[in-house]
Amino acid sequence: MDVEKPLWGALSQGGLSRPSWPFALLLLTVLAVLSLQITSNAVCPTWAGGGGLRQEKTLSSASGGDSQPTTCAGFFREGPERKVVMSVADFGGVGDGTTSNTAAFRRAVEHAVRLGKERGGGARLNVPRGRWVTGSFNLTSNFTLFLEEGAVILGSQDPKEWPIIEALPSYGRGRERLGGRHISLIHGDGLNDVVITGENGTIDGQGKMWWEMWWNRTLKHTRGHLLELMNSNNILISNLTFQNSPFWTIHPVYCSNIVIKNMTVLAPLNAPNTDGIDPDSSTNVCIEDCYIESGDDLVAVKSGWDQYGIGIARPSSNIIIRGVSGTTPTCSGVGIGSEMSGGVSNVVVENVHIRDSAAGIRIKTDKGRGGYVANITISNITMERVKIPIRFSRGANDHPDEGWDPKAVPRVKGVFISNVVSRDSVRAPLLEGIEDAPYEGICMRNVTVLGLGASAKWSCEFVSGFSDGVSPVPCPQLQSNRSASSCSFS
Ligand SMILES: *[C@@H]1O[C@H](CO)[C@@H](O)[C@H](O)[C@H]1NC(C)=O
Ligand SMILES: *[C@@H]1O[C@H](CO)[C@@H](O)[C@H](O)[C@H]1NC(C)=O
Ligand SMILES: *[C@@H]1O[C@H](CO)[C@@H](O)[C@H](O)[C@H]1NC(C)=O
Ligand SMILES: *[C@@H]1O[C@H](CO)[C@@H](O)[C@H](O)[C@H]1NC(C)=O
Ligand SMILES: *[C@@H]1O[C@H](CO)[C@@H](O)[C@H](O)[C@H]1NC(C)=O
Ligand SMILES: *[C@@H]1O[C@H](CO)[C@@H](O)[C@H](O)[C@H]1NC(C)=O
Ligand SMILES: *[C@@H]1O[C@H](CO)[C@@H](O)[C@H](O)[C@H]1NC(C)=O
Ligand SMILES: *[C@@H]1O[C@H](CO)[C@@H](O)[C@H](O)[C@H]1NC(C)=O
Ligand SMILES: *[C@@H]1O[C@H](CO)[C@@H](O)[C@H](O)[C@H]1NC(C)=O
Ligand SMILES: *[C@@H]1O[C@H](CO)[C@@H](O)[C@H](O)[C@H]1NC(C)=O
Repeated sequence: MDVEKPLWGALSQGGLSRPSWPFALLLLTVLAVLSLQITSNAVCPTWAGGGGLRQEKTLSSASGGDSQPTTCAGFFREGPERKVVMSVADFGGVGDGTTSNTAAFRRAVEHAVRLGKERGGGARLNVPRGRWVTGSFNLTSNFTLFLEEGAVILGSQDPKEWPIIEALPSYGRGRERLGGRHISLIHGDGLNDVVITGENGTIDGQGKMWWEMWWNRTLKHTRGHLLELMNSNNILISNLTFQNSPFWTIHPVYCSNIVIKNMTVLAPLNAPNTDGIDPDSSTNVCIEDCYIESGDDLVAVKSGWDQYGIGIARPSSNIIIRGVSGTTPTCSGVGIGSEMSGGVSNVVVENVHIRDSAAGIRIKTDKGRGGYVANITISNITMERVKIPIRFSRGANDHPDEGWDPKAVPRVKGVFISNVVSRDSVRAPLLEGIEDAPYEGICMRNVTVLGLGASAKWSCEFVSGFSDGVSPVPCPQLQSNRSASSCSFS
């Protein structure tokens, strides 16, 4: 459910246009031969020591200390105090729930830009109690958007107030049909030191109109995000509720040093593609103490799509997801992928609680993606009524266009999962790697899946690794010799 797919995609998956078996067999044989030839020079970082990546900039060095931080501290450096404090009401804004404040927000930001140029120092824009309807507006650097108690920003119901901008280079034009996409409600490109916070304020994308246009297939471009920041650094997003995003809710892409803390993200449980938080081709991202319920993944780490993501090659790394809880009945609690073509590494997922969801922890890839998923540490996860608590999957068959490369197989190596309890589960873990690119170093310790029928069994294909203290008994692929499987838990 990560990729926006037109209805015909779902139909053809249902069997209308499947290739015939002889053709599929031939294709598989060709793929097998081709991928044998690329195994030696595939894009995959060198492996060192206990199953991780070569030491790059680690979390602890990002925080300036020697030990792993237990908070997001260090991922965001608070800038100097904002010199100017203004209110959207000063720019002609009216918080009556009907007047459009698009011009007021844009004027306020332009004013902040001018002040910054003239006098230096940043600005804080207050949004007072009230209901402030607006179309998309851009943020600027050295800037705080502050929603006072009872302030609600509402996404405009006029699609023309969500202009079309360029497609993201790492996704190509497949998803962004016709080459462009609707801009997010709140957008930033090339920024430094931005804070979006408040005293229990709400930003409501009013996405229903967009979901309906997607359902009834009248949409020509991808829906906007609620908040998208591109090429930006040193960002704090905290203490607010974001709801009813047209598409993914919080989308940092090509960013670094992002803290998302104490946020509530809500969307109806059937709202399409309303992912909570999607760190994408970004580094040093810390997501902490957030509650999310939505119609798609709560958190999904991404890095671009097939040949476009491979070409741009911007990985996501040093990502912490801690203290997240929530529900998503058709998707996953924490996902990696399915778009991971720029690579994903050094991800820590801990103290996560997922209930009433289709999957808990999920890694999604496919042929054509290329890239890698490496050094993923997942621990202290509790789940209730999650159908498939741990799932690796392939073959969603969504590609940006016909130009994807079937030889570009993803590499998955070093996934350490420990201290997991899943109650009232429906299925044992389902781990499906990719033929000719088996997932290696899949390591599980102290993983308990409860509520299964007596005949429930793990189901594994093209994976290898080690397990210890896992119930029910894991598949034989995870019962290999520990030292041979490069599993090392600290
Ligand atoms: C694996 O990831 C963790 C957490 O991101 C990091 O601290 C560690 O240094 C990484 N290991 C390697 C070998 O890169
Ligand atoms: C932001 O503030 C920093 C100093 O803190 C300054 O160097 C920079 O030029 C400012 N950026 C903008 C776009 O105003
Ligand atoms: C906002 O920024 C985007 C580029 O990131 C640009 O295309 C758009 O015109 C800007 N909108 C406004 C109102 O400045
Ligand atoms: C979390 O945010 C809410 C407002 O949304 C605030 O009332 C509360 O104090 C915050 N909690 C922490 C621990 O910062
Ligand atoms: C925050 O505001 C919402 C309504 O917008 C309210 O339901 C909630 O109780 C408030 N929380 C706090 C901590 O003030
Ligand atoms: C599709 O949904 C939109 C938004 O609700 C609506 O304005 C439009 O009339 C619908 N179009 C069709 C063909 O149903
Ligand atoms: C969130 O709000 C609480 C209560 O006002 C405040 O103490 C805390 O510093 C805020 N946290 C962030 C990260 O903005
Ligand atoms: C495990 O996670 C839960 C939140 O789901 C948290 O309350 C608890 O303190 C964590 N336990 C440890 C040992 O960190
Ligand atoms: C196993 O995991 C559970 C859930 O996190 C935890 O409460 C328990 O202490 C762990 N046991 C061991 C031996 O680590
Ligand atoms: C496990 O593998 C290592 C290295 O491949 C080997 O030295 C060791 O004897 C093996 N141990 C068992 C119990 O098979």
